[in-house]
Amino acid sequence: MAEFSLPSNSRVGSGKNFPAAGAKRPRTFNIYRWDPDGSANPRLDAYTIDLDACGPMVLDALIKIKNEVDSTLTFRRSCREGICGSCAMNIDGTNTLACTKAIDDCATEVKIYPLPHMPVVKDLVPDLTQAYAQLRSIEPWLKADTPPPPDRERPQSLEERAKLDGLWECILCFCCTTSCPSYWWNGERYLGPAVLLQAYRWIADSRDEATGERLDALEDPFRLYRCHTIMNCTKTCPKNLNPAKAIAEIKKLMVARR
Ligand code: SF4
Ligand code: SF4
Ligand code: FES
Repeated sequence: MAEFSLPSNSRVGSGKNFPAAGAKRPRTFNIYRWDPDGSANPRLDAYTIDLDACGPMVLDALIKIKNEVDSTLTFRRSCREGICGSCAMNIDGTNTLACTKAIDDCATEVKIYPLPHMPVVKDLVPDLTQAYAQLRSIEPWLKADTPPPPDRERPQSLEERAKLDGLWECILCFCCTTSCPSYWWNGERYLGPAVLLQAYRWIADSRDEATGERLDALEDPFRLYRCHTIMNCTKTCPKNLNPAKAIAEIKKLMVARR
């Protein structure tokens, strides 16, 4: 039987410990650290902070650690309210947004890693270059040869507009894509749930006139059909969207047009 093991330089060791002397409500955050400028293996640093002096969300704790304990800790964030998708990371084993994840809903010792199966830029920052290139490949913009009315926007009925609900809310955090086993194994060729949900968002748009062309581009054993309906994507989406359903809708359209 084949045996798999991690290359020695990817083994995560234990790192530094930052206690919080005199904390009334201490809580420890074990955080993945990796510095591309050094030769050391990744490590888990343990930071204990006083929750009485911290906001309620995991992102509040990360910002407190960076501001008051260890300025070298690196992570992405912007909006702090679940809109930009920047703070996606793996918290206690689930991909989610640090800014909408309450510390009270975490384990006693919180474990924080970058989004899985992506190259790491530094600490909690994943390299999303491939995912963004895949997004570009589906041409996520309105394509129509018919010009819009001269004096107003392109019309859409209420029913047509309703078809975009559950799609337009996607913030491209890639929590779903990085939780998908098919993407882990075939990420160079399989587009993954986030990008396929975006593809369906334009296929489902009544104003778009490139449906056939868009479906042609997805008709491929890898780009679309590597989805095996494992459903991790839908389970993990922090915006409660259903990328697996969007993928199923694309597959239905493929069958219908044969
Ligand atoms: S579908 Fe959900 S998890 Fe996936 S990128 Fe969009 S918001 Fe993030
Ligand atoms: S349903 Fe498809 S896209 Fe979602 S996790 Fe499973 S294989 Fe990946
Ligand atoms: S900081 Fe924008 S989604 Fe969390």
